[in-house]
Amino acid sequence: MTSPAIPTLRVNGAAIPAIGFGTSQLGDCGEIVATALKLGYRLIDTAWKYGTEKGVGEGIKASGVPRKDIFLITKVSHEHLRAADFARSVDESLERLRTDYVDLLFVHWPAIDGTPLAETMGALAKAKREGRARHIGVANFNIAMTGDAMRLCPEPLAVLQAECHPYLDQSKVLAFCRKAELVFMAYCPLGRGRLFKDTVLAGIARARGKTLAQVALRWLVQQGGIAPIPRSSNPQHMAESLHVFDFELTVDEMKKIFELARPDGRIANPAGRAPKWD
Ligand SMILES: NC(=O)c1ccc[n+]([C@@H]2O[C@H](COP(=O)([O-])OP(=O)(O)OC[C@H]3O[C@@H](n4cnc5c(N)ncnc54)[C@H](OP(=O)(O)O)[C@@H]3O)[C@@H](O)[C@H]2O)c1
Repeated sequence: MTSPAIPTLRVNGAAIPAIGFGTSQLGDCGEIVATALKLGYRLIDTAWKYGTEKGVGEGIKASGVPRKDIFLITKVSHEHLRAADFARSVDESLERLRTDYVDLLFVHWPAIDGTPLAETMGALAKAKREGRARHIGVANFNIAMTGDAMRLCPEPLAVLQAECHPYLDQSKVLAFCRKAELVFMAYCPLGRGRLFKDTVLAGIARARGKTLAQVALRWLVQQGGIAPIPRSSNPQHMAESLHVFDFELTVDEMKKIFELARPDGRIANPAGRAPKWD
């Protein structure tokens, strides 16, 4: 398969690839990340918490793809949201990633220890002003928290990263992102593998001559303003997930996939850390 042209989503001067590569649970992932970049991925998502930053740094170097052509993302964990801890966490991430800036820096989860949001937003904005993060955003914030973060942050936020796939109704969050002019970055876009036995998705895939993963990812990108970040350690899967911009689902197919949402569809919901979801 040749590398497809990947569209970009534009927000606050950022050009964000409309699909990216997730690295949670990939461990020592240098080779996998290098393969992803060679296949054509240009957005790589990691986090201080994943333990994959070192591998991502190695993979970028091994790939030969110029750093400036890569949209690199990391996140500051909920334990590090006080200003001094935040800055230290960013330093550590940049060192592991072997770079002096990330393209997008997220707060990974909201604080659970009473750290004032204003303090964290100040630290996030500082990372941007110092050039250590080109763009900033929040992950796993509910709508009210994201609104507060936008008001309290001295620099504009560009992205909300949250779970999104056919089994989870995120229509309220997506509507909020559109109104607030935030890109919605969709994590667990394949339901962490749970979608693969779905007969509706399988039927659409069969009828269209696509794979189930391509149909699920196409459903996300076709809505507009959503950038999914699937994770894979299988080069065949990695390649096929990039090829979702060369076909269109019909209105009826889109509707059938929307109807798959179910009340127990959420996957990432850590007790004691997750906010009250919308
Ligand atoms: N901000 C947050 O709190 C947060 C939370 C969760 C995830 N994330 C980010 O989002 C990324 C993606 O989410 P995720 O890793 O949880 O799950 P996911 O991408 O929804 O699913 C990954 C699973 O799908 C399989 N897969 C991937 N592409 C496939 C394809 N084309 N065909 C068949 N199977 C395929 C993978 O298996 P193979 O390896 O066999 O392909 C793997 O088992 C993470 O890696 C991380 O970067 C962020």
